[in-house]
Amino acid sequence: MTLLAVEALSGGYGETDILNGVDLALEAGEILTVAGPNGAGKSTLAKAVMGLLPRVRGRVLLDGRDILAEPVERRIALGIGYVPQVANVFPSLSVTENLQVVAGIRDGRARIAELMAVFPALAARRRARAGSLSGGERQQLAFARALMARPRLMILDEPTAALAPALVAESFARIRQLPALGVTVLMVEQRARQALAVSDRGCILDAGRVAMLGPAAALLADERAAALYLGGGMVQDGP
Ligand SMILES: Nc1ncnc2c1ncn2[C@@H]1O[C@H](COP(=O)(O)OP(=O)(O)OP(=O)(O)O)[C@@H](O)[C@H]1O
Ligand SMILES: [Mg+2]
Repeated sequence: MTLLAVEALSGGYGETDILNGVDLALEAGEILTVAGPNGAGKSTLAKAVMGLLPRVRGRVLLDGRDILAEPVERRIALGIGYVPQVANVFPSLSVTENLQVVAGIRDGRARIAELMAVFPALAARRRARAGSLSGGERQQLAFARALMARPRLMILDEPTAALAPALVAESFARIRQLPALGVTVLMVEQRARQALAVSDRGCILDAGRVAMLGPAAALLADERAAALYLGGGMVQDGP
């Protein structure tokens, strides 16, 4: 079942189009990685799906329904969650408080209890200030905040960018668990090889266009993808 379909999506911030006719679909329960060069429009695509891009045309279909005209708060209510790269928790609030202040959650206390079971490291530190958490714990809190609203689709923009290299593998393993929570994942990542390794499918965006799209394993094995977009044949461990 197709959860999200992006059709002929174009647009940008000012007069220049950054996205130039993007076509992409996500099946429910899958992880799709969007990779590509700096400035290709990956974050812009994520923003366009969330409803944060000022000027867009084309279609964004959620369960077959066009949401392009819907504002961001409506898209959140329809089940889309977004985790930005930085500043995704309140450092001066405790772990529990960070979850309590997510707006508009029915039965928030029960949901917090569920998420503490999903992320035991957070349960152990529930009264700690978010600013005192390790990078990995802080990312779990950012994920938990996004999960409070029970999204069906989660958009992750560079989830590992702010993490110490030693925490990256663990972070990708955590992302791999999201479909088991009923969450479909659209992930933008610079660490394309590692991201594809935990993804079902991958997409290479170049100059606002889909340059390659296919099963993650096929992209990882593709010589052209390796030469042009994935950093040769080397295993990439940094941006
Ligand atoms: N808020 C903005 N206002 C105007 N132009 C922007 C804005 N954000 C991004 N751009 C421009 O849009 C283009 C695509 O940027 P985008 O952030 O989507 O790229 P990206 O693929 O995510 O790159 P990176 O890998 O560096 O994160 C760039 O030319 C960038 O300068
Ligand atoms: Mg980006």
